[in-house]
Amino acid sequence: MNNMDKPEILSANGLYHIYESKAEDGNVVALRGLHVKVYEGEAVAVVGPSGSGKSTLLKSLGGLMKPSAGLVSLSGRRITRLTGSELVELRQQTVSFIFQDANLLSHLNALDNVAQPLRHQGVLPHIARQKAQTLLDKLGMGDRAKGKPEQLSGGEQQRVAIARALITNPRLILADEPTGALDPITSREVLELFARLHKEEDVAFLLVTHNREVAGFCDRSLELRDGRFVAQHGTDVDIGNLSDTRELIIDDTGTVTLPPDILLNIGGPGRFELPEIDRDLLRMERVNEDKIDVGVKTELTLSKTCPACFHDYGDSDDQLCPDCGSSRPMIQI
Ligand SMILES: Nc1ncnc2c1ncn2[C@@H]1O[C@H](COP(=O)(O)OP(=O)(O)O)[C@@H](O)[C@H]1O
Ligand SMILES: [Mg+2]
Repeated sequence: MNNMDKPEILSANGLYHIYESKAEDGNVVALRGLHVKVYEGEAVAVVGPSGSGKSTLLKSLGGLMKPSAGLVSLSGRRITRLTGSELVELRQQTVSFIFQDANLLSHLNALDNVAQPLRHQGVLPHIARQKAQTLLDKLGMGDRAKGKPEQLSGGEQQRVAIARALITNPRLILADEPTGALDPITSREVLELFARLHKEEDVAFLLVTHNREVAGFCDRSLELRDGRFVAQHGTDVDIGNLSDTRELIIDDTGTVTLPPDILLNIGGPGRFELPEIDRDLLRMERVNEDKIDVGVKTELTLSKTCPACFHDYGDSDDQLCPDCGSSRPMIQI
């Protein structure tokens, strides 16, 4: 079935975020009016340079922070409208997060870290632990279950974090560079697990990544630059050379933002004519230099007489006719 036929698990409209700072010119516009849709069971990557807004986007989408403006819906419910406890409940039922750093609770061992989200939902300890153990086994961490985070390597901690994310059977996983801190082998294992969840259990993903294998596992990748989506790529995305697979996006406000390398290739910013506009086709040509001079050299001056009542203004520079109240027009000399 085509993904587009499925209901949306996540959608955002007109998402803006500004980090306010008291320092002069310290405000940062991190998101500039983003629209995103992720369908049930779809895997979408977000790629883009550091500082482009990827983490801010993910946190806003998952309800971890409130964007300055815009709407976010999870499973068809607007999270921007929900109260604190409703939001927590919806998040628990739908979405799990995986960050680059595992963010484990240091006083709990691996097993209890994994079991924790179920404990929050009121599941009995022995049942939660049982499920946690099964997941740790699956991730090759079964014999490390009693280890405290400080006794585990970075890769092991991340696998624990992933098990913790999976224990609630989320319909959507939001992951911010989930393999960023892992060695290539662990990274591949994690990816295989994601791929399995995606294929066999129809779990949807929105993954921020710099890793081409991660992006390759996704159905499509969105390219983020400076807080805007500039393009979309298919499964064959090559993060090292984004220009090969790029499709530009025109959003429903009609806005298109060019990726910086394309902007450079066409000779930088400027004005363009549209000699051809057809359905599904837009051709743009740079307006040549001599046309840029729009300053038609006409000089305008205040009219000597009122166009309505023919009052003679004489030498006065009144803007309104003293007789009839009409505005005084400018005319060509
Ligand atoms: N807490 C914050 N306060 C102020 N500015 C921030 C904060 N977090 C992120 N930023 C700024 O917002 C922009 C986007 O950041 P971020 O979402 O972390 O990007 P990415 O994850 O793509 O590296 C950057 O310019 C960053 O410096
Ligand atoms: Mg980030």
